[in-house]
Amino acid sequence: MNTASHQLRCTECATVISRDEATSNFRCPLCNGLYEVIYPWTSVTKDTTANLPNPSALRWLWQERRTSTMAIDQSGVWRFRDLLPILDDFNQAVTLREGNTPLYDLPRCAKVAGIDWLLAKHQGMNPTGSFKDTGMTTALSVAKQRGFEWVACASTGNTSAAMAAYAARAGLRSIVFIPEGKIAWGKLSQSMDYGSLTIQLKTDFDGCVRILGELVKQFPIYLLNSVNPYRLEGQKTPAFEIVEQLDWQVPEHIIVPGGNLANSAALGKGFTEMYQLGLIPRRPKVSIIQAEGANPLYRWFIDSNRVMKPMTAETRATAIRIGNPASWRKAAVTIDDLGGWCEQVSEQEIALAKAEIGAEGVGCEPASAVTLAGLKKLVKLGKVQREERAVLILTGHTLKDSQYTIDYHRDALFTDEERAQLSPEDVARHAALRKPPIVLDAEPDVVLRTLEAHMSLPQPV
Ligand code: F0G
Repeated sequence: MNTASHQLRCTECATVISRDEATSNFRCPLCNGLYEVIYPWTSVTKDTTANLPNPSALRWLWQERRTSTMAIDQSGVWRFRDLLPILDDFNQAVTLREGNTPLYDLPRCAKVAGIDWLLAKHQGMNPTGSFKDTGMTTALSVAKQRGFEWVACASTGNTSAAMAAYAARAGLRSIVFIPEGKIAWGKLSQSMDYGSLTIQLKTDFDGCVRILGELVKQFPIYLLNSVNPYRLEGQKTPAFEIVEQLDWQVPEHIIVPGGNLANSAALGKGFTEMYQLGLIPRRPKVSIIQAEGANPLYRWFIDSNRVMKPMTAETRATAIRIGNPASWRKAAVTIDDLGGWCEQVSEQEIALAKAEIGAEGVGCEPASAVTLAGLKKLVKLGKVQREERAVLILTGHTLKDSQYTIDYHRDALFTDEERAQLSPEDVARHAALRKPPIVLDAEPDVVLRTLEAHMSLPQPV
């Protein structure tokens, strides 16, 4: 398979171009739409017997590569390179051995959500602590292959951390634009540590995107935001891993957080390609969950006229604090095509879900916790049935935003107004989950008395 095997197709007007014709902002010059990477298998149906990769051979090959000592085989993205023919030479791939992330079961979270079996695909277990690594290895490898010296992104923190790391590995120079004061410290520290030129703009994420869009038109900088279709090629691979980890069974539901709205589309693309190649007999529903204060897709979803209205976003889940999502149409098509829903969740619901995921010994960042909070609502609405299998996509590691976690456990997260909105059951639930650090005198008696008091308390569900 070589690069002639892929082209770019506008997701709005369907114009197909070669890989070399893409403009610096990855927008279609005819209609401003975004591109997607297409392959010989993109337009076939499951039943077409064209000269396509063989499902059984692929399954065997992907498994076999896990025992190899080659870097591209050890990568949980490039292990699937047969469905990613985007590089001239795969040995030039820039990899930190991303992917191969765990699929955990969450029995206690399943119980609070009201279903029998709940799984979490923990993309926070990637090298820089978020799902962005899977897309950065592909798009940055393309940047390197095309001879770019500079790469850049606007970010709420995770894309920038991933880009900085992969650029450093490749020996490329990187520029990060982040909204000043509105990203978690863990993420900001990463782009500095990996040697990026870090620029904090006095605006929000959407403002950063605007500025960067102008810059890439004037300087030879390779844009690594998720409008770059090669990002989605890497981000589709967790779909392959999920079914592989389930012994090629397909779960009924995938629940994804929604911010700039590329990841949900990438996962949908992964499932669709597997279906087209006959690797799976059906596709799961993909549902997208947004924070109430950053919910443009939810508003589109419930609007009878289906109009997307950009908004000013506000949420403590800073990763998804996005009011004008670039890939909203791709996400909308994913919901419609695979048959999922869109839900919104409050700040209190996000905090509770995050504590519940943490209490299972798994943990995640606030933006990832919207998935559990959203699942609870989908179960109540009857969209997810008790016996159906759901997979939460946990997008970021809990250490990304430790300040949020500390504030939560010290009961310093909510405003008085937010506290007043909690039901008595929720107040009790939060109280049972909170584990603030206890400061004691270094006296055995004092420590013993405190332990006795705590050991007599019941374990929260
Ligand atoms: N979860 C986390 C932890 C994220 O960092 C992001 C996006 C999302 C979910 C949403 O994914 O944008 O594809 O819908 N973070 C971007 C960034 C915007 O700059 O790191 P999406």
